Order: sequence, then C-alpha cells, then structure tokens
Amino acid sequence: MEMKIVLDLIEREQIPECEPERQYYFMDIAQRYVKQLAAQKGSPLTFHVTTFGCQMNARDSEKLIGILEHIGYVRTDTEEADFSVYNTCTVRENANNKVYGRLGGLNNAKKKNPFMMIGLCGCMMQEPSVLEKLQESYRFVNLIFGTHNIYKFAELIVTAMENSFLAQPSKKGSRMTIDIWEDTDKIVEDLPVERKYFFKSGVNIMFGCNNFCSYCIVPYVRGRERSREPQEIIREIERLVADGVVEIMLLGQNVNSYGKNLKEPMTFAQLLTEIEKIEGLRRIRFMTSHPKDLSDELIEVMKNSKKVCRHLHLPLQSGSSRILNIMNRRYDKEHYLALVDKLRAAVPDIALTTDIIVGFPGETEEDFLETMDVVRRVRYDSAFTFLYSKRTGTPAASMEDQVPEHVAKERFDRLLKEVQKIGAEKAGSLTGQTLPVLVEEVNEQDATLVTGRLDNNSVVHLEGTADMIGTIQNVELMSCKGFYYIGKAVD
Ligand code: SAH
Ligand code: SF4
Ligand code: F3S
Repeated sequence: MEMKIVLDLIEREQIPECEPERQYYFMDIAQRYVKQLAAQKGSPLTFHVTTFGCQMNARDSEKLIGILEHIGYVRTDTEEADFSVYNTCTVRENANNKVYGRLGGLNNAKKKNPFMMIGLCGCMMQEPSVLEKLQESYRFVNLIFGTHNIYKFAELIVTAMENSFLAQPSKKGSRMTIDIWEDTDKIVEDLPVERKYFFKSGVNIMFGCNNFCSYCIVPYVRGRERSREPQEIIREIERLVADGVVEIMLLGQNVNSYGKNLKEPMTFAQLLTEIEKIEGLRRIRFMTSHPKDLSDELIEVMKNSKKVCRHLHLPLQSGSSRILNIMNRRYDKEHYLALVDKLRAAVPDIALTTDIIVGFPGETEEDFLETMDVVRRVRYDSAFTFLYSKRTGTPAASMEDQVPEHVAKERFDRLLKEVQKIGAEKAGSLTGQTLPVLVEEVNEQDATLVTGRLDNNSVVHLEGTADMIGTIQNVELMSCKGFYYIGKAVD
C-alpha cells in the first residue's frame, strides 16, 4: 500500500534579507518540516552525504552535514537514507560516470521509501550538459544545486520538501528543485558546520581559482578566486582551538595567491605568521600550492615556524617545459627544480608530494621522459598520477594531437612504477628518530594499536588506547613496514 505523506505548509513571515540570519530562519522552518515527517514515519529521519573529489568538497560536505544535523536529521552509514546527498566532482570524466552509475541504485531505494529525498550538488552540477541530462533522464532527483549557493542549503531544503511533499507542488508538474548560479562573490560566514574529528579540521581560506590551466575545469565550476578576510579565518581557528582542535589544514585551490583581492591585500606567508600566533594550535597544514606563486617569503616562514608542518604538496603536472607552457602553468622545469632545491635547503626534512598528468595533448615520448626525469631528481615521498581526461569547455579539449589511450596508459604505468619505487625507497628514512606524532584513531585491524601522523604526514602505528586520540606523543620510530612506521611512545 502506498503511504500518503501530508506536509502542512508553514507560512513565511518577514524573511530576513541578511545572511546568515536568513539561513537560520529557514533552518527553523526545515526543522519543523522534519518533525512533521518524522512523526508520520514513526522514527527520526536519516541522512547520508557521499563526497566525491577533493578536500574542498570534503569541507563543503561538513557544511551540509552541519545543517542537516541542525534541522534534526540523524546521520546513518548507508546511502539509502531518508535524505541522500551526493556532493559531486567533475575534475575527470570518470568522476561523472561514477555518479550516474550510482544514481540508479538510489532510485530503487527511493521507490521503497516514500520519505526519501535525493540531493545532488558540487562541481558536476555547474556543467550545463550535466543538468540537461539529469532533467531528462533522472527526474527522481529532488534537489539540485551548485557550488556557489551551498550556503543556501537550508532554504533549498525547505523548497525541495515543499515541492516533493506538498499536495500541489509549487511548480506545476515538476517535483525537482533546481538552483544553480554561474558565479558569486559572496562569502557567508557563521553557518553550522560538522566536525569529523574533534582534534583537527579543514579551514577554507579562499574559494575558486583564476589560473585556467588549459586542462582543468575547476575555474569554470568553482568560479573566480576570492579570499576570506583574515579576521574571519583567525576567528574560526581560535574557536576550533578552544574546542579542542590542535591541527588545521588551510584549504584553497592555490593558497599561495591568498589575499590578493582583499580590501587590504595580504600574502599567504603573512596569514600563516598570524595563524602561528594562535595559542594552543600545534600544527598547520595547507593545500594546494601552485609553483608559480610559491614565494621566498613563504619558504622563510616555513623554515622558522614551529607549527607549519614539514610537508608540501607541490603539483608538477608535467616535467616538460614545452607541455607546461601549453598547460598554461606559467613555470618551467628549471624553475620547479630550483624551487625544490630552495625548499630543501631551508627545510631539510621536508616531505614533498605532487600531482602529475600523463597523456596531455601533444605529449611526446621525449616530453614524458622529462617528467620521469623530474620524478627521479625530486624523489617525491608520494605522488598522485592521473591519465589526462578531456573536459569539455577547456582549451585542451579542442587541441589537436590527443594522445592515443594505449600510449598514455603505457606511460602512466611506467610513471606509477617509478613513483612507487622511489616512495618505497624513501619510506623509513626517519627510523631511529624520536618525533612528535598526532594520534588520530584506534587501529582498525589491531585494537591494541593507535595510528597517527608525523608532521611530514607519514603514518605511525604505536601501542596505545583510545584516550590518546587527539594528543601529540613523542614517539620513537623503531621500524618501517611498507609505507608506515612502527613506533613506541616515550616520555
Ligand atoms: N588546484 C590544485 C588541484 C586541483 S585538481 C592544483 O592546481 O594543484 C587536482 C589534480 O587533478 C590536479 O593537480 C591535476 O593533476 C588533476 N587534474 C585536473 N584536471 C585534470 C584533467 N583534465 N585530467 C587529468 N587530471 C586532471
Ligand atoms: Fe585547476 Fe590549475 Fe586552478 Fe589547480 S591551479 S584548480 S589545476 S586551474
Ligand atoms: Fe573535483 Fe571540484 Fe575538487 S571538480 S577536485 S571537487 S574542486
């Protein structure tokens, strides 16, 4: 028997115009709707957020979860929840395919659960062709929004609930709620945000990207670069620290160009110096750094800082100056290698990681060997390697000389092997030393062990108990197995 859901419309009075007040107003309405639905269901409504993509998306998901919890949804481990949200990524084609593939499963779950809503957001939604396809073949999706209006989630939920559950949907004939913006210059502060770990947290320092690397879709789906005010960032971190956080990860597509568009411009190095002063904060990480904007000033701050971790993720993309030029990266092989030398001279133990793309249009065997050369010279601790993926709308997509798949794949395999070989050789280089480890969790396989990280991001297992989570221990690194250390806490 099909269950009939009755939602009593809550009338709006004097909707606040300012943010974040407006969103708190809608959270209140959403909370009342959730109560109405839960009463009919006879149990609390559940939610699940699935994150695809990068750390930026992961942080956005924490914002979605913060709001869902605030309005009374209860978290569950399964995607087949009363509200299932996919926060999508579109950086490579296979990211999109994954989403389409899994939506069918969600639809089956929805057929069995009249309370279920499906939401889609994130980078993929910013592509017009995706929206067209969803409108045509995925009519069961309740709510679609993009990257620029995520702060309006509460308001969007209210509209989606009314469109989905009121007897007469406000838009006749359609129960889909769609709101996608092309761009925004707005940054809304002080909305609820979930904390996955009590001892560490990501902190956005900027949004968007202005670099337009010729293969990359991010500037099109995340909009222009805009920095948060330093006072807002410091205030957020101070609150987090008061709440038990000891490690933060500053997030942006290119943190090295932080502050350029502020009313009172400020450099990333200056921001780090300010954050360093926050008492109680122990570790500062950041990502991602673009080699073209990595300044001497920043290297100096990293050298002198007691809190900035000795790890840098410095995407190379290609070792060939010719390809880097066509990629619009605005540095060449020599500049990159010189940067690495400078970094290592200033911070000798620094761990270096990178991103590399294989098979960019026009890449020859010679170009590829340049990439291998940089990999061998820099000797990365680890590297993310990607097969070039054609993204419609980017300049590279219409370049001639697309590299045949089998050629790219063969190069990819060679590169991966080299990266792994070097990574394995480098692992364990700190064995014998005693170093601080931030304990993060009880080991999944062996409950007598806890697992944590060195400031260079290496993983360490040591004997311990759950009460050590969130503390920084001095650990003697006794041996190295594969890519992680076995250590012993010492006083
Ligand atoms: N802003 C960051 C990274 C953003 S995307 C930076 O500039 O480093 C993460 C990584 O995905 C990139 O570093 C790049 O290596 C990879 N990537 C981006 N577009 C791609 C494409 N079209 N095909 C394959 N890999 C891509
Ligand atoms: Fe993409 Fe380049 Fe911007 Fe990174 S810097 S997000 S690779 S355009
Ligand atoms: Fe993907 Fe968007 Fe991040 S496209 S990599 S989730 S910025």
